[in-house]
Amino acid sequence: MPEADQSDSIASNIAEWTETNAQFTDAQATSAWAPQALAWGVFGALEADIGSPLGHVVGLDVIELGCGTAYFSAQLARLGARPVGVDPTPAQLATARRLMDETGIHFPLVEAPGEQVPLPDASFDLAVSEFGASLWADPAGWIPEAARLLRPGGRLVFLTNSFVSYLCAIDEGGTDTTLHRPQFGAYRMRWPGETGIEYHLAHGDWIDLLRANGFEIERLIELRAPETARAHAYYDHVSPDWARQWPAEEIWVARLSR
Ligand SMILES: C[S@@+](CC[C@H](N)C(=O)[O-])C[C@H]1O[C@@H](n2cnc3c(N)ncnc32)[C@H](O)[C@@H]1O
Repeated sequence: MPEADQSDSIASNIAEWTETNAQFTDAQATSAWAPQALAWGVFGALEADIGSPLGHVVGLDVIELGCGTAYFSAQLARLGARPVGVDPTPAQLATARRLMDETGIHFPLVEAPGEQVPLPDASFDLAVSEFGASLWADPAGWIPEAARLLRPGGRLVFLTNSFVSYLCAIDEGGTDTTLHRPQFGAYRMRWPGETGIEYHLAHGDWIDLLRANGFEIERLIELRAPETARAHAYYDHVSPDWARQWPAEEIWVARLSR
């Protein structure tokens, strides 16, 4: 696994998400926090329709790594979980706090990157990431942190872009049916013109990293867009037509076996 400079990636990603918060996420947070069935990804796959990767969350201590505006944690709180949201971008956490005040759903928020979380060992039953640390934190840093934070037998469930969509993504935007970059050596990616740094691992590399940190992999769910899927208003890099033929996003489900 390549060594990456985590501090430069964290600073870049805080800058990226401060800007994205002002452009988009603050404005869409009210609807994202509204009561609704738990759904995954840009085409809204319902948790129940994909075999409930989270399982029963009632009474679980849940940590969301890269919680952003924390709508995902808010939905988990509605289902009876006890979430704690962790994110390094103050603007995103400010939106989360505004929505807490507006909805009355309160849970702790911690300003920190997924690579270095100032919380005690073995204090959570479930770690989740919905395009948070799973895409924006260095896996060599955040996967060991997830393992440290979980109790024995705890689960890690995270959503990120599929590896095939990364390979087929066009630098200028959009996704087609050509492999635009090599698989071997894939890890850290800054798209042309972007500030932020993403992390994209091939499946074999995720498996090796998860197992090296004590996780057994239970499922890899490759999300398929439904026939009724429509293009997302903001995250439109993959079309519904493409995502009906190849997975645009993937959910990893792993259990801490030690
Ligand atoms: C797409 S948003 C996450 C959405 C989130 N699930 C929600 O409910 O709003 C991506 C988040 O990743 C965060 N992020 C960036 N770098 C990170 C890092 N090193 N560790 C954890 N999160 C990071 C950003 O600050 C941003 O809030």
